[in-house]
Amino acid sequence: MASKIFIKNIKTLYQIEDSPKKWVAGKEMGVLPSIDNAYLAIEDGKIADYGQMSDWPGITDWRDLEVIDASDRLVLPAWCDSHTHLVFAGTREDEFVDRIHGLSYEEIAAKGGGILNSAKKLQNTDENDLFDSAMRRIEEIRALGTGAVEIKSGYGLSLDAELKILRVVKRLKEASDLTIKSTFLGAHAYPVEYKSNKAAYLDLVINKMLPQVAEEGLADYIDVFCETNYFSVDDTKKIMEAGTKHGLKPKIHVNQFMALGGVKACVDHSALSVDHLEVMEEADFEALKGSETIPTMLPSCSFFLGIPFGPGRRVIDEGMPLALATDYNPGSTPSGNIPFLLSLACIKMKLTPEEAINAVTINGAYAMDLSNTHGSICRGKQANIIITKEHTSLNYIPYAFGSDHIDRVIISPAQA
Ligand code: NIG
Ligand code: FE
Repeated sequence: MASKIFIKNIKTLYQIEDSPKKWVAGKEMGVLPSIDNAYLAIEDGKIADYGQMSDWPGITDWRDLEVIDASDRLVLPAWCDSHTHLVFAGTREDEFVDRIHGLSYEEIAAKGGGILNSAKKLQNTDENDLFDSAMRRIEEIRALGTGAVEIKSGYGLSLDAELKILRVVKRLKEASDLTIKSTFLGAHAYPVEYKSNKAAYLDLVINKMLPQVAEEGLADYIDVFCETNYFSVDDTKKIMEAGTKHGLKPKIHVNQFMALGGVKACVDHSALSVDHLEVMEEADFEALKGSETIPTMLPSCSFFLGIPFGPGRRVIDEGMPLALATDYNPGSTPSGNIPFLLSLACIKMKLTPEEAINAVTINGAYAMDLSNTHGSICRGKQANIIITKEHTSLNYIPYAFGSDHIDRVIISPAQA
């Protein structure tokens, strides 16, 4: 890649900002600041300048410079996908067919499918094979416009296998040009051998896995699947406390099937995000209002499992920020496709295209502590850019669901 890239004649340049915002909330989410007939200049992997073509200062130094003509094309910041489990072994299309025949997600898990099925496959998979398949998924989401992604463990469920996943994530951080954050999710499900001694598994997560994960610097965040039949609100509190002591901020799976009071517990423990939220009660809205915890919803998971879509419309109408993420994983969301997620957010959650795009750019960046460097077109931010195909308008992206919208993705190395 040339050290300087100049994109000219951009039909519309979206999500520009003069100085980095932490997130956008409420009515602000309906606005994507933009410039028509624009240019964008990139230097050494950073956004150097942008503006109207009529104000373009001109090129004086052509050395190591690539010029891209973006006539009739839109330019946006690359997506920030703040919730995935994209290191996994094997796929679970048999469970997909079981669901067609009427079994629920919970029934499939109860008969040995679900997370435990993935854990068994992963425990028997070589680290290099895991790395190769995860790298292919990274390349896949990169081509769909994702420039930053969070990846969780949680399909290991033993000390060795959890470390194996997180070591793969560490290698992905080094090998890929995407910005990657990693999350330790040892408390994703109780392994069969601990079913009658759950306290022993909690002890393993808190006192064996977590210290080693922290010592090896393998995770940025701590996660728990807070849900009936998985981890209780009390378990979640204990794990959040332990994680925080080791410097890992909580990002928690909560309220996917049941509202158990976990959202308030997460806010009280300064969670960065609460994720899923398909089911939300009044107390959950109250807990989130005015907090620094960003509600994060996963519409592709709702679509795939046929469960309710989270009340994202209400979250925004009540003045809060909302992030959206894919949840890419083999069980509930075998897709890391953000353009399709945008269509779901608009059609099923009644978000406007601007709201949906804010939710996967600046707000997704916040949900990974990246809003100073990612998620918008701002001078000095990392130059992670999407150039669309020839599009009539921004609305065309969620409207033409399933189409290939992207002409080119520019990702600048994380360390640039
Ligand atoms: O976020 N809900 C918990 N974990 C994943 C799915 C796990 C699986 O089914 O493999 C999720 O949807
Ligand atoms: Fe998830």
